Amino acid sequence: MTLSEKLKETAKYIQGKGVTSIDFGLILGSGLGELADEITDRIVIPYEEIPNFPVSTVVGHAGQLVYGTLSGKKVLAMQGRFHYYEGHSMQTVTFPVRVMKALGADSLVVTNAAGGVNTSFAPGDLMLITDQINYTGDNPLMGLNEDDLGPRFPDMSEAYDKAYGEVAKKVATELKIRLQQGVYMGYSGPTYETPAEIRMSRVLGADAVGMSTVPEVIVANHMSMRVLGITCVTNLAAGMQANLNHEEVVETTERVKADFKELVKITLERI
Ligand code: HPA
Repeated sequence: MTLSEKLKETAKYIQGKGVTSIDFGLILGSGLGELADEITDRIVIPYEEIPNFPVSTVVGHAGQLVYGTLSGKKVLAMQGRFHYYEGHSMQTVTFPVRVMKALGADSLVVTNAAGGVNTSFAPGDLMLITDQINYTGDNPLMGLNEDDLGPRFPDMSEAYDKAYGEVAKKVATELKIRLQQGVYMGYSGPTYETPAEIRMSRVLGADAVGMSTVPEVIVANHMSMRVLGITCVTNLAAGMQANLNHEEVVETTERVKADFKELVKITLERI
């Protein structure tokens, strides 16, 4: 089956569950999945039921699609995403984004947990992603290009939509939420970075580092989707604090999730 054929099959299945129009796709990262609990008129579809969908394996990632209304918009949220480090190909990791587009979504909100590289960041800060560095060594668009999905050589000059970013900044000011902004650098994981890698990342222009988002945003751009990206800086990156662990990542998202949810909800209302 070609990718387009798989997409048709998956979209048809999801439509059969009652999913009609979609304004926004939502990808909810580590510890941030609770936002999907606020979606009303819900249709919930576990990943394992969906044809051509892989199953996510990470603790803290529920693994289901939640469709419904949030902030007056029709959204399809991924509660739990797929990661490259789980052993999935980048094509697999990004398949759900293609499904969102096939179902009619022209915009994507991506969220994640990441380590702060910028020395002025503190754990618990939220960061508007203004741009990204693909440091994974891979790219989800490798291989044959299916021209009906997007061009062979997509422009990444404005990978994250500037207008969406401006709205998020304004909302953050109004809500008195500290919103940093910066460049997200995507590593493959699953190891956290070494202190030397973090010094390198800073020199290369990164403000935060993580193990997700970059492939999904590449594919969204391939299909001309507009992207809003919000990072939760859960810890200072390696070498900037004593050590790193997943528990701290979960604890920090727990601490700031109320602000995170408000910021995303009100921004969604206005974009
Ligand atoms: N590095 C990579 N990924 C992460 C980090 C980090 O420091 N924190 C949360 N996700």
